[in-house]
Amino acid sequence: MKLPETIERTEAYLAERFPVEKMNYASMILKKEVPVHRLSWGYYMGGLALFFFLVQIATGVMLLFYYQPTVSDAHASVEYITEHVPAGALVRNIHAWASSLMIASVMVHLLSAFAMKAFGKPREITWITGVALLGITFAFGFTGYLLPWHQIAVNATKIGLQTIEEIGAYLPGQMATWPKAMKEIIQGEASVGQATLSRFFALHVIILPLSIAGILGIHLLSVQLHGMSQGVDEKPRRMEKFFPTYFLKDLSVWGVAFMVLFILGLCLPFDSLFAYPLFEPFNAKGSTPDGIKPEWYFFWVYYPLELLPFWVIMLGQTVLGVVMMATPWIFKNTNRRTLKVLAVAAGAYLVVMTVFGEKIYHLFKG
Ligand code: HEM
Repeated sequence: MKLPETIERTEAYLAERFPVEKMNYASMILKKEVPVHRLSWGYYMGGLALFFFLVQIATGVMLLFYYQPTVSDAHASVEYITEHVPAGALVRNIHAWASSLMIASVMVHLLSAFAMKAFGKPREITWITGVALLGITFAFGFTGYLLPWHQIAVNATKIGLQTIEEIGAYLPGQMATWPKAMKEIIQGEASVGQATLSRFFALHVIILPLSIAGILGIHLLSVQLHGMSQGVDEKPRRMEKFFPTYFLKDLSVWGVAFMVLFILGLCLPFDSLFAYPLFEPFNAKGSTPDGIKPEWYFFWVYYPLELLPFWVIMLGQTVLGVVMMATPWIFKNTNRRTLKVLAVAAGAYLVVMTVFGEKIYHLFKG
């Protein structure tokens, strides 16, 4: 195919996905309608993920006033925030809770968007930017976890990075060295140390926020240009005005979410429920404590990794990654009923592994 032709087709493809000539904010907001159907609650999940992200920005900036990204002072600065800074413990708790609630809402958002076939033409790019947002959201969790520099966080990060290196054993020829090289780039030195903490800090407070802001911009623009997908039923029950009806409902959901977050932050230090207190500072000479495991949102892959051969999980992850990225094309002709069943099955797997992962592990491993 001649170059001009390829360019023309790409332009036509993008013009259909981003009909910028339709970009008249007044009509986009005032004329926009939202379909009402059995899964309409799913439309609030993207908004909730956005809300928790905004909370992370606000509380993150507050924590930055006191947090020191050095191996000598990181733990002490978090301790100082929790024990001496007025409302410091509250802000840190809200930041910890909002990270979990953001990841949970992104997962539900993904499954409800999938069940609604909201990835179909012309929303392929909404979906693909969504998958990128999911990756960034998990990277926020992984990088943020190391910053308090306590015994568990450092050792859990070591295990996480070690898993990357292990992939090399299953790759052919020169490729076998790539995972190790990647691990060393992330780690910045032979072991998890100051270079790692500086890189994770830069990722957590600069690189990931800028990436998410850019990709979310494309994500939301595509949503605004195409409006909400029709949902699970062949024909929605009725349509409701986006502004002010849906908009005010979205705001009230944010209001309730903020109240829940505030109460959790006040009454339930994140550490107490998820048993991750501010452990003692990392001591390189100390032994690796027993029972190290990652945060709950990695349980869906962590427990299978503990139970099954490494190559099985690696293969599974690769297939999952490809299927998620190619979802708009793989499931193009799949009917909504099947999509709903797949979404419910995936959701059930995530809940079972997150809540009962430990029990299942002991069931097999004693
Ligand atoms: C930080 C993460 C994310 C944020 C803040 C976010 C935000 C939003 C918002 C506000 C909407 C419009 C309201 C709604 O339908 O919920 C939306 C729609 C959408 N999102 Fe996301 N999203 C995120 C991640 C994802 C992920 C992980 C996926 C899937 C892989 C995804 C796929 C979609 C799709 C397909 C729509 C269109 C829904 C429709 O038209 O019915 N998003 N997103």
